Amino acid sequence: MTFVVTENCIKCKYTDCVEVCPVDCFHVGPNFLVIDPDECIDCTLCEPECPAEAIFSEEELPAGQEHFKQLNADLAKQWPVITERAPAPADAKEWDGKPDKLKLLER
Ligand code: SF4
Ligand code: F3S
Repeated sequence: MTFVVTENCIKCKYTDCVEVCPVDCFHVGPNFLVIDPDECIDCTLCEPECPAEAIFSEEELPAGQEHFKQLNADLAKQWPVITERAPAPADAKEWDGKPDKLKLLER
């Protein structure tokens, strides 16, 4: 099993999640983070840390977010690991909860 970063992280990218992960499985892109499913040990620590409530267990993915499981796996192979919190984008709050952010994902 793994945890998955879903759509609401896009353009919010608070990075609170990376501070608590004991196995450094977060990878970072320009405006989104993903979890490497091969590294995640299902400790559950990151899920409550995300201010945008973007992290879910793969078994509890909200309707319409199922494809983020494969997207996390794919992008984790391409993006570098992030282990330290970084400042969120200045407009992160404005993007929190906005629908259809997948088209804004930068790779
Ligand atoms: Fe890391 Fe635990 Fe979150 Fe998996 S569930 S990404 S191991 S903090
Ligand atoms: Fe994204 Fe939430 Fe982490 S917005 S960077 S999953 S704290």
